Amino acid sequence: MKFAEIAAALPATAVTSMAEMSSQLSALSPQPRHLASGKVREIFDLGDALLLVASDRLSAFDVILPDGIPGKGAILTQMSNWWFAQTAGLIQNHLLPDQAGEFARRGITSRDLQLRSMIVRKLKPLTIECVARGYLIGSGWSSYQKTGEVCGIKLPAGLRQADKLPTPIFTPTTKAPKGQHDEPINDAQGAAAIGAALYEQVKAMSLKLYAFGHDRARQAGMILADTKFEFGTDAAGKLFLIDEVLTPDSSRYWPAADYRPDCSPPSYDKQFVRDHLLAIKWNQQPPAPRLPAETIARTREKYLAALKNLLG
Ligand SMILES: Nc1ncnc2c1ncn2[C@@H]1O[C@H](COP(=O)(O)OP(=O)(O)OP(=O)(O)O)[C@@H](O)[C@H]1O
Ligand SMILES: [Mg+2]
Repeated sequence: MKFAEIAAALPATAVTSMAEMSSQLSALSPQPRHLASGKVREIFDLGDALLLVASDRLSAFDVILPDGIPGKGAILTQMSNWWFAQTAGLIQNHLLPDQAGEFARRGITSRDLQLRSMIVRKLKPLTIECVARGYLIGSGWSSYQKTGEVCGIKLPAGLRQADKLPTPIFTPTTKAPKGQHDEPINDAQGAAAIGAALYEQVKAMSLKLYAFGHDRARQAGMILADTKFEFGTDAAGKLFLIDEVLTPDSSRYWPAADYRPDCSPPSYDKQFVRDHLLAIKWNQQPPAPRLPAETIARTREKYLAALKNLLG
């Protein structure tokens, strides 16, 4: 789908609650069974597939904020769809092949719901989150300053904040339940969690996908500093890329023009929100405070800008 077509269809107010989504789903027969709520997505069982609906919810410091970003769910879904198509030659993904056909067949007619939804294979998510990093920033930078290592990987001395790493690294984490923080793990812990062979497979694939994403983002004027992938397996043990992929929620993108090491470059994600929450000294425990309208508007523009850069 073209950027202009997506941008024109985005809602003016944020869709954040199950109730708002349910009203769009109420016309469906049979009614999809609600399986779970993630921080951002609502997951429904369609019998032979899953329906993942991305809301406009926003989380910061792992807490869901009371305000959403209008259109964020559709932006995340459409950007993921674009990346799934780009990466189809590297790995198969969870999308059923004909999304428009699936929507029609299942009576999903609301345009808003279509834009924020994916109809996907039911897979078993791996119990680790697969993070790949090409630059020294965020928790990686914090860890390097303390120990010279990131997730047990020794890095050369003298690197600066936001420096490009000599080679991209794989820094997985646990997949923590709602409300808890994902914890970094090393290769041995990762292999113990999912099995050594599968661990080597997802490590290699994450680095391959990161390199691909970095090159492609660079052509769109952005630097992909780091990203988190999720993988799942089918009954036969075959590996699929699942969830969302290479979105500003799962990745750190920087405008290439503003990039320089020795500082924390502005990114295409929730930086305005985080800056605001740090400025008001929120204790990072629920309930989270409301956001100023300007912070919401600026964050929305950043998500849209990233989509525009990629899809043109
Ligand atoms: N094809 C699939 N089969 C089964 N589960 C899936 C599939 N794709 C995604 N999921 C799961 O659906 C959930 C999506 O919800 P959401 O993105 O809100 O996740 P979350 O883990 O709560 O938050 P975050 O992404 O911020 O860590 C995740 O738990 C993900 O593992
Ligand atoms: Mg997620």
